[in-house]
Amino acid sequence: MSIRIKLLLSYTGMLVISLLMIVLTASLFTIASTGDVHSFRDFYKVHYQINPLTEQGESIFLDLKYLAKNDPDELQNKALLRDYDFKLRAEKSGLYVRHESDQIYESLTFNQPELKQALPPYDLGNSKIRSTFNIGARFYAYAKFDFMFKDGTKGGVFVIRERSPFAEVVRNLLPILSIMLVGVLVIANILLYRWLTRSVIKPLHLLRDSAERIKDGNLQFELDLHSKDEMGQLSGAFESMRQRLQESVQLQLQYEENRKELISNISHDLRTPITNIKGYIEGIRDGVADTPEKMEKYVNIIYAKAVDMDKLVDELFLYSKLDLNQVPFTFEPVNIVRFLDDCIEELRYDLEDQGVGITWNQHEAGEVLVIADLEKLKRTVLNIIGNSLKYMDKPQKEIRVSLMPTADTVTVEITDNGRGIPQDALPHIFERFYRAESSRNSATGGSGLGLAIASQIIEGHDGSIWSASQEGEGTSIFFTLKRLMNEGGMEQDDTNSNH
Ligand SMILES: Nc1ncnc2c1ncn2[C@@H]1O[C@H](COP(=O)(O)OP(=O)(O)O)[C@@H](O)[C@H]1O
Ligand SMILES: [Mg+2]
Repeated sequence: MSIRIKLLLSYTGMLVISLLMIVLTASLFTIASTGDVHSFRDFYKVHYQINPLTEQGESIFLDLKYLAKNDPDELQNKALLRDYDFKLRAEKSGLYVRHESDQIYESLTFNQPELKQALPPYDLGNSKIRSTFNIGARFYAYAKFDFMFKDGTKGGVFVIRERSPFAEVVRNLLPILSIMLVGVLVIANILLYRWLTRSVIKPLHLLRDSAERIKDGNLQFELDLHSKDEMGQLSGAFESMRQRLQESVQLQLQYEENRKELISNISHDLRTPITNIKGYIEGIRDGVADTPEKMEKYVNIIYAKAVDMDKLVDELFLYSKLDLNQVPFTFEPVNIVRFLDDCIEELRYDLEDQGVGITWNQHEAGEVLVIADLEKLKRTVLNIIGNSLKYMDKPQKEIRVSLMPTADTVTVEITDNGRGIPQDALPHIFERFYRAESSRNSATGGSGLGLAIASQIIEGHDGSIWSASQEGEGTSIFFTLKRLMNEGGMEQDDTNSNH
């Protein structure tokens, strides 16, 4: 059974039950107020029998009773009776006096032709003075006294009060009221039902459709339900699930793409030196290298190519291990000032060889401690400075290394005045195999892995690496490392670092 039908049934059920309740209440109410059923009439009677008249009515009744006992003929005096009746009228009561089977006086208050028949028979013992009666739907309470006139004929005096005046109103209005009530109930139910369907069923259908779409592999849609209720929360959760799914699918595709690209790059980069080596070896075999000088030249080229290949495979191996998080980092406190000193010292001969001047803007503090993996950090610096050397095109070659410590990090900047990197290439230089110049076989030769490795290493240090460059002017590569703080805060003493 669908929720829609369940809802419809429960609403109809509620409607029927409430209608029944209304009908029941209305009939009880009607019965109670009109006194149609004995039990209810009895209930009223008990109350009115004890207390049928108002206080004023009661005192008038006592006066009349006194008259009936002491001077009964006075009760034939119409003027006197009218006088009493007038007083009673203010109390919504009336007077009735009878003589044998005739009426002497009937108050105009009642205007009830059947009043005479409804009254109780004579009871001169006056055993029941107070009681009630009803004529049709009208209900009366009274106090009466039966007596003898002087001539021995029977007479009776009644003070009568009509009760439940609104019984009439209720009886007249009840059908209209009931119809209106039923109408309101039905309309309210329809509105409620529609509201609930709209806020529950519709979103459910939307969710189902979305799930179907996901099943069919379509994640390119947006599910947005602007509601704050449980349905809204559910579809919010659903939407974030869809987004995550989409992200992971995209990531998967990206990985797949990367893998293909990697394989094609590797095969390309390996094929070139292998083809060269093959060519030179064939030359030797075919006797092209017929002089010892030629032979030596060929062998040297073959050796150089093999060295290139070895380097490439090494870099590839390191990169892939870094990429797979398979290289453990061994972090230790390193004095970055001393460390850079050592790196520059190591490169001094290469630099002098190529006529490159190096400026080392040491920070005035002799010691800035960072947490680093010494060996990998060295690899990073060598890769960056290696690039500066490789892509140098000015006669006045310059490299500048500077250090910028902040409270909890230190930034290393390595700037050269080489050929610079085109703006469109700049965002990609840290990608593996990326080389700004189109030809992979250019004189500068390289795998395009140097900066990718550097970036992997710096990321492994929780640091960041970025570049700035002006084509033709030079390039700056920056990286940050986390600073190790001494207990006392800034470290100013010039103790030996422990690297
Ligand atoms: N100092 C630099 N000056 C000019 N270009 C640079 C510099 N450093 C990096 N590049 C550019 O970024 C590319 C990627 O560098 P890298 O990852 O080290 O690869 P490779 O040096 O093997 O080409 C280089 O090919 C080069 O185009
Ligand atoms: Mg490089």
